[in-house]
Amino acid sequence: MRDGWDPRALPPLAGRTVVVTGGNAGIGYFISEQLAGAGARVVIAARSAEKAGIAISSIRERVPDASLAHVRLDLTSLASVREAAEEIAAFRPLHALVNNAGLVVASRRRQLTADGSELTVGGNFLGHFALTTLLFPALAEGGRVVGMGSDSTLMVRLDADDLWSERRYRPFRAYAFSKHAVQGFHLELARRIAAVGDPRMSLLAHPGWATNSYASRRPGITDRDPVGGRVFEAATGWVGQGKDRGAWPAVRAVADPDAENGMYFGPSRRLAGAPVLTTPVASSADPAFGAALWADAEQRTGIRFPV
Ligand SMILES: NC(=O)c1ccc[n+]([C@@H]2O[C@H](COP(=O)([O-])OP(=O)(O)OC[C@H]3O[C@@H](n4cnc5c(N)ncnc54)[C@H](OP(=O)(O)O)[C@@H]3O)[C@@H](O)[C@H]2O)c1
Repeated sequence: MRDGWDPRALPPLAGRTVVVTGGNAGIGYFISEQLAGAGARVVIAARSAEKAGIAISSIRERVPDASLAHVRLDLTSLASVREAAEEIAAFRPLHALVNNAGLVVASRRRQLTADGSELTVGGNFLGHFALTTLLFPALAEGGRVVGMGSDSTLMVRLDADDLWSERRYRPFRAYAFSKHAVQGFHLELARRIAAVGDPRMSLLAHPGWATNSYASRRPGITDRDPVGGRVFEAATGWVGQGKDRGAWPAVRAVADPDAENGMYFGPSRRLAGAPVLTTPVASSADPAFGAALWADAEQRTGIRFPV
């Protein structure tokens, strides 16, 4: 693996198609902008056509000949995931699917997806599990699935027996569990791909602590946080980096020709810095957790993975 990856000098990506969930905002927006800047066609999978339109205009201001599309996706509804997967499959072959979108529930009340699973794990993990399963056949040879992990998995220990917060619910606990599941899923996918010698890859990235307040300004995108959020970001964001840099590890996972199945990229100084190889918390890499997660996800979605 080459050191000294320069996130500002990406290899040319013309002719490649990349899908970015939540590509309308935050880190996902900057992933989309940076990949489009290197010539990739970017499909922004987002729940609001209006917000996706703002993102597409903003990218076009900087990359006038960018090839961009929006597909409607709400990860908290399996019906929406199925519709989106059908629409996205029309763009095949896909060179990467970046499972970036993430929700944090503010309410202290446990909420459910349209299909009856706890909302945070249901959206962040189960929605992406279903999307990846349905789109895997559309991935090109050597194509990549990139999951967005989080350091919250270092702060909240996984309780695999209460992944769905049925015993106890706290919003940040559920968020961290969703990220344990995202990490466990992408690593399990990497193991399954390796076991059958499939040329496709599953990788992970995490952004450190990334805020809009410290990012390059993108009107309508970096300024959309509520006032309370902006104050919190301004107070804490200095230890991290802007969401433009927070995008770098995922962009490297998509674009680095030397990246390998199962790799995990994150900022060099954990919360900030250039994207380098990192390691997940041990529980995410536990094959027993991965296998149980997989069986649970197939049962809840009714979708069987093709590998
Ligand atoms: N920022 C950090 O420091 C940090 C740290 C660790 C991990 N992460 C992870 O990085 C990813 C991006 O975070 P961010 O900071 O860029 O977050 P963000 O600015 O809040 O953006 C989240 C994105 O996810 C989308 N989304 C939320 N719920 C969705 C749903 N039900 N269906 C489809 N899309 C949905 C949002 O769409 P709307 O615009 O429609 O709401 C938005 O595009 C997330 O997975 C997050 O967990 C972030």
